Amino acid sequence: MAATPKQPVQFTGAGPLNAPISGVLTWVDQRFPLMSLWRDHLSQYYAPKNFNFWYFFGGLAMLVLVIQIVTGIFLVMHYKPSAAEAFASVEYIMRDVPMGWFIRYMHSTGASAFFIVVYLHMFRGLMYGSYRQPRELIWIFGMLIYLCLMAEAFFGYLLPWGQMSFWGAQVIINLFDALPLIGPDLSTWIRGDFVISDATLNRFFAFHVIALPLVLLGLVAAHIMALHEVGSNNPDGVEIKKHKDEQGRPLDGIPFHPYYTVKDMVGVVVFLFLFFLVVFFAPEMGGYFLEFNNFIPADPLKTPPHIAPVWYFTPYYSILRAITEDFMLVLAIGVAAYAVLIQMTVRDKRIGMAAMVIALVVIVLMKGGPLAIEAKVWGVAMMGAATLIFFLLPWLDRSPVKSIRYKGPLSKAALTIFVIVFLVLGYYGTQTVTPAGTIISQIGTLIYFAFFLLMPWYSALDKTRPEPDRVTM
Ligand code: HEM
Repeated sequence: MAATPKQPVQFTGAGPLNAPISGVLTWVDQRFPLMSLWRDHLSQYYAPKNFNFWYFFGGLAMLVLVIQIVTGIFLVMHYKPSAAEAFASVEYIMRDVPMGWFIRYMHSTGASAFFIVVYLHMFRGLMYGSYRQPRELIWIFGMLIYLCLMAEAFFGYLLPWGQMSFWGAQVIINLFDALPLIGPDLSTWIRGDFVISDATLNRFFAFHVIALPLVLLGLVAAHIMALHEVGSNNPDGVEIKKHKDEQGRPLDGIPFHPYYTVKDMVGVVVFLFLFFLVVFFAPEMGGYFLEFNNFIPADPLKTPPHIAPVWYFTPYYSILRAITEDFMLVLAIGVAAYAVLIQMTVRDKRIGMAAMVIALVVIVLMKGGPLAIEAKVWGVAMMGAATLIFFLLPWLDRSPVKSIRYKGPLSKAALTIFVIVFLVLGYYGTQTVTPAGTIISQIGTLIYFAFFLLMPWYSALDKTRPEPDRVTM
C-alpha cells in the first residue's frame, strides 16, 4: 500500500515579518515534525488546572540540569584530571580564569540545588501518590535518575582532589571491600589501583563528564515521555482524562503552553534569586555545600579527624553507621516480627510460608553464629536497601485514593514522621559518632523502613475521604 503523502503545513501569520518566518517553519515542518512536537508536548498538551507550588520542581530540576551541563563544559576547559595537577587547576580556575570563580561556584551550588529540588520533587510524588498506577514507570525512571544523580555527585566530588574528595571516596570504596567473596577485588576494580590514585581520578572524571550525563539526559527524556503518555497527576489525584469535551479536550485541563510555561517562569525567577544569593554570598553554605577540609590538597598520609559525606548523602550514611553488632539482634527480631505479620494477614498461605523461610535465612545470616555475616556488610546492604526501597512504592501503597488530601490520619502521620526521620538521619550523618547519636540513628533506621514495609497495612486500613470526581481549585 502506498504511503499517504504528508500534508504540507501552512503557517499563516499576518504582517510582513511573519511571512518569511512561516515560510521557514513550513519548510522545516515538511522535513521534521517540529510543529507536531510543539503541539503534542506544549500548546496542546493538557495539564490539570489545579497545579500548585509543588509542581514547580520538575521544571526546576531541568533548569539545574542545564546549569550543571553548561557550567561543567566551561570548567572542563581549565580543569586538569591528574592527581598532580587537579587541586592546583581548581585553584587556578578560582583565582586566575576570568569569571572562573563564578562558574565553579555555580557548579558546586548547582550540585546541592539539584538535590534540594529533586528531594522536593520526590516529596510531591509521595504526597500526591504520583507513583501510583498508571504512573509507575514515571516513578521508576525518576528513581533511576536519582541513583544516577547520586553516582554523578559522588564521582564529581573526587575531582577537586581535596582532603574530603580523597577520604570521602576512600570511605565509600572501602564499603565494597566489606562484601563477602568479591569485595576486595571489586574495590580494586573500582579504583583501578590498590589505593585511590591518578587512575581512580581519571576514570571518575570520565564517568562524571561524559558517561553519567549521557545516561542522565536519556533518563530525563524517558521520564518526560512516560509523563506525556499518561498525563500529569495533580494535588487531588483525579485523572483529568475521565472528563472530556466534544473535541476530546480534558475539562479539567489547560494547555501547558502558555499557561504553565508562564507560571513556571515565576518559579524560575524565585529559584534563580535564591540560587544566586548562595552563589554570591554563601557558596560554602557553612561547610554544607563545600566542606572546609576540601580546601586542603589531598594527602594520603593524613586522615581528617571527621569524615562526612556531603549533606545529600547523610541520611543514608546515618543508616550505614547505625548498623552495629549490638543492633543486629534488634534487626533480627524486626525481621521475625515482619514475617509473622505477613503469615497472619496474607490470605495466600504460600506467601506466608515463603516469608517465614526467607526470614529464617536472613536471621541465620544476621545472628547465626559462624554463619552470620558481619554488621558492617549489613550496614552496606541496609544503606543500599534504603535507596532502592523507593522503587517499590507503587506496589506498597494500597490506599483507595492517591492524594494525601483524601487519605486518613494513619497515612498523614506516617508521611510526616518519615520526613522528620529523614531530616534527623541527615543531621546525625553530618556529626561525629556519639552513643546518643547512634541510638537516635538506630531508631530512625527502624522508622525509615517501617514507613515502607508497613505501608500495605496502614494504607489499606486508613479512613479515607472519597476523591472528588473533578479537580478542586
Ligand atoms: C533530573 C531530575 C528530574 C527531572 C529533570 C524531572 C523532571 C520532571 C518534570 C519536568 C515533570 C513534570 C512537571 C512536574 O510534575 O513537576 C516531572 C514529573 C514527575 N517526576 Fe520527575 N524529574 C526528575 C527527577 C525525578 C525523581 C528523582 C523522581 C522520583 C523518584 C521523579 C518523579 C516524578 C513523578 C512521579 C512525576 C509525575 C508527577 C505528577 O504527575 O504528579 N522525578 N519530572
